[in-house]
Amino acid sequence: MEILTGYNKYKTAVFISGTGSNLKSLINFSKKKNSPITIKLVISNNKNAKGLNFAKSNKIKRKIFNYRNKKLAEKDIIRELKRNQIQIICLAGFMEILSKEFIKKFKGDILNIHPSLLPKYKGLNTHQRVLNNNEKYSGCTVHYVTSKLDSGKIILQKKVKVNQKDTTKTLSKKILNQEHKLYPRALLKIFSL
Ligand code: GRF
Repeated sequence: MEILTGYNKYKTAVFISGTGSNLKSLINFSKKKNSPITIKLVISNNKNAKGLNFAKSNKIKRKIFNYRNKKLAEKDIIRELKRNQIQIICLAGFMEILSKEFIKKFKGDILNIHPSLLPKYKGLNTHQRVLNNNEKYSGCTVHYVTSKLDSGKIILQKKVKVNQKDTTKTLSKKILNQEHKLYPRALLKIFSL
C-alpha cells in the first residue's frame, strides 16, 4: 500500500451550514494515516454555523460567503478553491444548491451526504416523510454531486432500521451516527490505491 503523506493527500474543502457533526468526523478521519484527504478549507454560507468551531479548534482555514448574491458568492468561492488548490469538495449539511456553472467550473470531484436511501426521499425533511410513509428502513447515502438535486452516482449507502417508536429526532440521531462512519468509508472507497 502506498504511504499517504501530507503531500499526496487530496486537498479537500468541506462545505457546511450548521452543526457540522459530519465535518467533525471528516476532520478526525483526515488525521488518520490511511486517510486519502487533508482538509485545507471549510466554507460556510452561515457565519453562525456551529461547525465553524471545529474548524477553528483544528486550525483549519474558514471562509464565510454571503449567498444573498449567489452568483457572486460562487465566483468568490471558486477563486478561494483555486487559491487553496482544492481537489475535492465534501458537502456536509450545506444548505445551498450549487449551480450548474459552479459544478462545471470546479474541476475536481464534489461529494455529498444525504440522510436517506437515495433515490428515495431527495430534498428536505427526509425523516418526517420516511415516518409518514411508515417505512421499515431508512439510512444515508454518499454520492457524487451533479446539477440534479441528490441524483448523482451513489458511492455508498447504509441502511438503518426504523422502529415504530422512532421520532424525527431519534431517527435523525441514529442516521447521523451512521453518516459519520459512511463519509470516511466512501472516501476510502473512491480514493484508496
Ligand atoms: C446531515 O444529516 C446530512 O446528511 C445532511 O445535513 C445534515 C448535516 O448534519 N445533508 P451535520 O451539520 O453534519 O451535523
